[in-house]
Amino acid sequence: MAAEPSVMTPMNIPYLDLKAVMALHGDEIQRAVAEVVGGGWYLQGEAVQRFERHYADYIGTQCCVGVANGLDALTLTLRAYMELGKIGEDDEVIVPANTFIATVLAITENRLKPVFVDVDADTLDLDLEQLEQAVTSRTKALMLVHLYGRCTYNEAIKTLCDQHGILLIEDNAQAHGCTYLQPPTSTFSSAEPNLKSQISNLKPQTRTGSLGNAACHSFYPGKNLGALGDGGAVTTNDEELAEVIRSIANYGFAKKYVATYKGRNSRLDEVQAAVLDVKLNYLDEDNGRRQAIARTYYHNIKNEAIRLPRLMDKGDNVYHIFPIFTSQRDALKEALQKKGIGTLIHYPIPPHQQACYKEWNHLSLPVTERLAREELSLPLHPAMTDEQVAFVVEALNA
Ligand SMILES: Cc1ncc(COP(=O)(O)O)c(C=O)c1O
Repeated sequence: MAAEPSVMTPMNIPYLDLKAVMALHGDEIQRAVAEVVGGGWYLQGEAVQRFERHYADYIGTQCCVGVANGLDALTLTLRAYMELGKIGEDDEVIVPANTFIATVLAITENRLKPVFVDVDADTLDLDLEQLEQAVTSRTKALMLVHLYGRCTYNEAIKTLCDQHGILLIEDNAQAHGCTYLQPPTSTFSSAEPNLKSQISNLKPQTRTGSLGNAACHSFYPGKNLGALGDGGAVTTNDEELAEVIRSIANYGFAKKYVATYKGRNSRLDEVQAAVLDVKLNYLDEDNGRRQAIARTYYHNIKNEAIRLPRLMDKGDNVYHIFPIFTSQRDALKEALQKKGIGTLIHYPIPPHQQACYKEWNHLSLPVTERLAREELSLPLHPAMTDEQVAFVVEALNA
C-alpha cells in the first residue's frame, strides 16, 4: 500500500503563474485579440483610444497617454516637463532609495540628478526628516513610488511639494487600483489597526495615479494590470503635459511629418490596449483576491524569525508584492524552493549600489540596504488556490 503523502510533500507553486492569471479572463482576452488581428489596424487606433479613456476614468484623471512601457512613461514625463521649461538639465529629482531601478533610470536618462532619500524602517514610506533635508533650490520633482502595491502618499509629502514648488510624480507601476486613505498607517505593527478610527477617516475614493501632477504606470505582464507584452501609460490632469508626452512618444510630431520635438517611438499598441481594456474590468475583483490572500498570509504566518508587512486592509494596498523580511532570507528562500515554492527578491541590489551608478555607490542608505538583504516576496496572484496559499503558510511556519 502506498504511504500517505506527508502534508509537506513538495507542491509546485511558482512565484507567478502567468498562464493561470491570463486564463482567468482567457476567453474574453482571446476575443479581444482576435478582433484587433482581424481588424487590420494595429497602432494608434480605436482600441488605444478606448483604453486611454477607460483608464483615465478609472484612475480619476482627465488624461491618459498610452506609451510603450513603464520606464518610458517615467522618462517621457520628465522629458516633457523639461520641454515645458519646468525642469532644466542638472536639476535635482528626489527618489526613494528603495525602488526598482527604472525610477532612477528615467531621471539619469534625462541628465537630471537623482537625490536618494531612504525610507522609514517602520512605515517603508519616505523618511520625512530626510526628505525635508534633501530639498534644495534645484529640487524640481519628487518621484513617489507606491512600491509593493501600497499607497505611500501622505499629506506631509504633498505639503512639502506645494511649499517648494516641487512636481509630484507618482510611479504607480506596482499599484493599479490602489486607493489613498487617511490617515496613513504604520507598515509594521503587532496590534491590529483600530478599525473604527480608520473608517471614520475614509476619504471618498482617490486612486493612486491621481494624487500628484502626473503618474506613470507599467503594464508589464506580471503587474496587477498586465498586458501580453510591454505597455505603459501616463495619467494626469495636465492636458498640456499629456499632449507633449503624446507628441514626443510619436517622433515629436505635432501632426504627421511635422516635428516639434526630437521625439522617439514609444506607443502602446492596439493588441495590448484591447487586452488591457478587458482586464481593467476585472482589476478590482483580481485585486480583491490578492487582498484576501494577503489577509490569509498576515493572519496565519506565525514565525518569530519573520517580520510581516502591516496589514493594509482598506484598499490602500493592492498587494502587487507580499514582502516578508528576515535576516535568514537566503536560507529561507532555499528551504521554500525545496518544497516547490517559488519566491523572488525585490530587490537584491538597490539602485545606488548598482555598477552603472558608480557615482552613487559610496552613499549610505541603511534602511534600503537592509531591506535588500532581508526582503523575500511570497507567491501572490489572483489565480492562486486556497490550497496553495495554505501550503505556503504551512511551509513558513515550519
Ligand atoms: C516601480 C516600478 N517602476 C517602473 C517599472 C518599469 O516598468 P516597465 O517594466 O514597464 O518598463 C517597474 C516595473 O517593471 C516598476 O516596478
